[in-house]
Amino acid sequence: MSIERQALDGGHTDGERKPLPFTLVVFGASGDLTRRKLVPALYSMDRRGLLPEQFAMVGVARRPLGDEAFRNGLREGLHQFSEVGAGTRWDRLDHQVSYFQGDYQDAASFEALKRQLDELSKEKGLGGNRLYYLATPPEAYAVIAEQLGKAGMGGDWTGGWSRIIVEKPFGRDLTTAQDLNRRLQAVFSEDQIFRIDHYLGKETVQNILVFRLANGIFEPLWNRQYVDHVQISIAEHIGLEGRGLYYEEAGALRDMVQNHVIQLLSLVAMEPPASFGADSVRDEKVKLLRAIRPYSSKDVLRSVVRGQYGAGTVDGQLVPGYREESGVAPDSQTETFVAMKVLIDNWRWAGVPFYVRTGKRLPRRSTEVVVAFRPAPHSAFRNTVTTGLDANELILRIQPDEGIGLRFGTKIPGPTIRIQDAEMQFSYGTFGGKQPEAYERLLLDAALGDSTLFTRRDEVEAAWALTTPILEAWGRVDSADGPAGGAVGNRDVPLPVYPAGSWGPAEVDRLLAADGHAWRNL
Ligand code: BG6
Repeated sequence: MSIERQALDGGHTDGERKPLPFTLVVFGASGDLTRRKLVPALYSMDRRGLLPEQFAMVGVARRPLGDEAFRNGLREGLHQFSEVGAGTRWDRLDHQVSYFQGDYQDAASFEALKRQLDELSKEKGLGGNRLYYLATPPEAYAVIAEQLGKAGMGGDWTGGWSRIIVEKPFGRDLTTAQDLNRRLQAVFSEDQIFRIDHYLGKETVQNILVFRLANGIFEPLWNRQYVDHVQISIAEHIGLEGRGLYYEEAGALRDMVQNHVIQLLSLVAMEPPASFGADSVRDEKVKLLRAIRPYSSKDVLRSVVRGQYGAGTVDGQLVPGYREESGVAPDSQTETFVAMKVLIDNWRWAGVPFYVRTGKRLPRRSTEVVVAFRPAPHSAFRNTVTTGLDANELILRIQPDEGIGLRFGTKIPGPTIRIQDAEMQFSYGTFGGKQPEAYERLLLDAALGDSTLFTRRDEVEAAWALTTPILEAWGRVDSADGPAGGAVGNRDVPLPVYPAGSWGPAEVDRLLAADGHAWRNL
């Protein structure tokens, strides 16, 4: 992670973070991710001068498609998904893009790919450096890594550097994640494997640690002595966006909690790392995850709420219920909403509940972290018209309206003491310009070999260790033989339906009300 300190009005610089020449080899290149995210990110990197002059992209996929057709598809995608469209700079990139038709099961395909990459590298001076990107369905991840290894293009490739980026989902539960890790690590070493969680590429997510650790005034308050509780919300107003088949298997716990929600929680709650090195940061995240109190099946009933959206109105539009979506079973038991109470058993956080929630088809898109402080220990205003004082809150707005707010009580002008909450605001808009997309930052870091913002093996497994018992209690793990004696089973755990356009099932309010708290309005 590169760090510079600048005054807020001092403009923005990307510093000297430019990778060496390299080839980006995208497997699953004819899919949506390449057009929607990767190519717009590359384009934007190029515009900011963050791509080396010597650069090539090779798209690999099964379907027959020539270079020209592939490039045209990417160009169209760029018009559709990049805010800046495809201008003159793309012309430069256009010439660096080629297509390779290959079968992931076929060793001969990988031999041919190797020859093509070697030639390309010589011709364009790419230094033999390769960044492989797995944008295929997850079943293909291990196979592709193994084929790369067999063809001499894996971690022991000596012609330059080689790294592999793996998209989520990273396993379906703890066992499958461990298996995938084992197979990837048989070919690439851990420092060559870059597991993407795009939330870590967001500026405001990175700012959580910067906010905590670059300022002397907040960290001393960041503990059980001053913090009453913490709320983390990732609300989405969208539904499935054509991803019914995937989502039906995944559900909100796998799709959002195991990765994005847990990443936010880790950054908020971890101990300060000694430095911003990849291992220091990730060591602390893993320590935190291991300190989270595990869920027994009884705890799942008490502390985890799930829900599924029914028909309703979002943004003034009538939308169908989850079970009516294409790719979804009419009696689906998949959750589209999860809320959990998380307890962290360490000195800093003992007794401080962290409440997290995420769901689809909620009234609006909003991701925020709220740190609710303990109320003032004594009210000096007892003999005035002021009654209860609200507690102070720090609000980290991750998206949209990126910024930070601090709520405090203030005197309403007048002859008596009347107090009202006010909010001090910082907006990311102050910086001007558009923030870089998450994928842009992550592609750059992978090309530079910086894994700070990627998930390490033990981190992914710790996140699954926490979430797999919940999936088991819900009966959503294929391998489970059913709950052990005395444990709760799927039928015991309710799956309430909430109308699309509401804030989730009523149970979610009870989760906090039981502790005398309420969710903050998003
Ligand atoms: C993805 C999930 O990882 O994150 C999607 O698969 C979700 O279901 C998306 O919509 C949310 O990302 P963002 O950046 O829009 O908050």
